[in-house]
Amino acid sequence: MERTYIMVKPDGVERGLVGEIIKRFEQKGYQLVALKLVSPTKQLLEEHYKDLKDKPFFPSLMTYMLSGPVVGMVWRGKDAVKTGRRILGETNPLASNPGTIRGDFCIDMGRNLCHGSDAVESAEREIALWFPSGVVEWDRKRVNSLIY
Ligand code: TYD
Repeated sequence: MERTYIMVKPDGVERGLVGEIIKRFEQKGYQLVALKLVSPTKQLLEEHYKDLKDKPFFPSLMTYMLSGPVVGMVWRGKDAVKTGRRILGETNPLASNPGTIRGDFCIDMGRNLCHGSDAVESAEREIALWFPSGVVEWDRKRVNSLIY
């Protein structure tokens, strides 16, 4: 089953949007398999965003991402990477449709609330980076089958 790494960035945590973002992934039908609040180190963020290190916006991206804690999550389910990106919206919030997280809650590309992996391979790389000790394995069918 496909997995994706979704992260609430510091502005999303500070604005109290963690629950709203979790809610949208839950109600879509994805399964939460990892979750943590963390103040990432500069090294971790440089590794996470290593493909962008030569971009002009990289220094401001680092400053923004180091401004407060983030909430990292792993969500599991059919087409999780692509659909996860659709739930978040476009990189630029102004290009994001209403109904997406960025379309509904922000206006600045430099404060775009959340991150979602852009491919299955990058999702697996990011999950290993942010959750080096692994994620929880749990079976929905087993929970559903319990009789009280
Ligand atoms: P990127 O990986 O290209 O986008 P996404 O987060 O949608 O996968 O860029 C990482 C972050 O860098 C992006 O979420 C916001 C920031 N950014 C800028 O500040 N300016 C820019 O021009 C771009 C492309 C991104």
